[in-house]
Amino acid sequence: MQYSIRLLCILTLASIILMSAFVGMRHYVTSANMDAALNSKAALIAQRVANAVQPTIWNIYQKSAERVYSEQVTSAILDSELADPNVIGVSVYGNFGHVFMARYKDAEGNITEHSPARHKSALTQTDHRSLISVRQGAMTIGNVLVLISDAPNAAQLRRILIIDAAQILIVSICFILFLFYAIQKALIRPAAQLKEANAELEEFSYRITHDLRSPIVSSLALIKMSKTSLERGNTDQAILEIEHIIKSLEYLDQLNHDVFEVLTIARKDERIEPVNIENMVQDITALLSHLSGGVQINLRYDYNAPPFIHTKPERLRMIIENLVSNAMKYKDMEEAAPFIKFTTNQESGVFMLEIEDNGIGIPEDMHQHVFKMFKRFHPKVSFGSGLGLYLAQKSAHIIGAEIKFIPTEKGTKFKLSIPLQE
Ligand SMILES: Nc1ncnc2c1ncn2[C@@H]1O[C@H](COP(=O)(O)OP(=O)(O)O)[C@@H](O)[C@H]1O
Ligand SMILES: [Mg+2]
Repeated sequence: MQYSIRLLCILTLASIILMSAFVGMRHYVTSANMDAALNSKAALIAQRVANAVQPTIWNIYQKSAERVYSEQVTSAILDSELADPNVIGVSVYGNFGHVFMARYKDAEGNITEHSPARHKSALTQTDHRSLISVRQGAMTIGNVLVLISDAPNAAQLRRILIIDAAQILIVSICFILFLFYAIQKALIRPAAQLKEANAELEEFSYRITHDLRSPIVSSLALIKMSKTSLERGNTDQAILEIEHIIKSLEYLDQLNHDVFEVLTIARKDERIEPVNIENMVQDITALLSHLSGGVQINLRYDYNAPPFIHTKPERLRMIIENLVSNAMKYKDMEEAAPFIKFTTNQESGVFMLEIEDNGIGIPEDMHQHVFKMFKRFHPKVSFGSGLGLYLAQKSAHIIGAEIKFIPTEKGTKFKLSIPLQE
């Protein structure tokens, strides 16, 4: 979770930096292109006006009379140029500053005639200008000044910027989400699973070394004691001690068996076969009856589903064996009529087997730990490795089933739900 948030932040930050650089670059290129276009537009207009006025200025020069153009002529030549939204002024003037004709456009788009004040105000709004000479041969007989403003383009540039930013934002969000999902799937989730598995393995190794050692240590001590007893001719005491040794070694054997199961469970390859679950229960209860320690346990059956299911038989056997052995081991010695009840049901493609007993039960505050490794809640009542229910749950997952602990008033109840398959 913590990694995921960090990853999302890094991705978002990287995208924002990239996105800003990209938008900035596009903005810069667009405005540079617009500037170049306006400069060449100014030069083009200036040239056009110069061509239009050249013959008449030459005339004026020769006659030195009528030094100003009539309003009609001025309008005919200049008004069409001012129709361009960027053009805010065009003036044609002589070599000594004498204005032949000029037109200016104010912020509202009104075209006005020449006056020094208007000329000045137009100059303050000018962003690009073009000044060219009107020539007669090698002689300069006048000048054309075209004034251009960026203002109408600013709005367009802003619009382009907003559209660009919006497009890149949408693409970036999609990209971030996709990348986040991909990285999460490819790296983070497996890493978290690996961490969990590693912690489990660490606990497992620690417990194994500890649990394997204690029966060896106690057996060694008991062997020494029984040797002494035999030397002293105390055979009864020696037999008692040897019985303890046997129990210790049985525990060791059981632990060794369970540890082997834990280590190999995921690698076992088993075929799916039809299994008669009622027969399997029968076999297992007969085989494990010695675990009841001589106590008569009543076996009850409430079978409501066809007994055949398709599954991996050894996995299923391990689950039932673990549940039945626990029910036998953790019976209630005070109980007048101890029982183990097997119930089957079938509902919407799921086969259900419930195994219930009226034994000593599991303390309520321990219910959430029942399937964890090495958790034993009655270590003094019976022997065991504490791996049985853990293995049962792993086996259930391997056959696609689910095993649940169901709290009851007395004793315990486990429910195994196996999806039916052909
Ligand atoms: N049917 C049961 N009745 C009472 N306690 C049970 C029952 N099944 C399991 N438990 C408790 O859960 C613990 C874990 O079970 P399990 O993993 O099979 O370990 P083990 O059988 O080796 O003790 C047992 O030690 C026992 O305390
Ligand atoms: Mg067990």
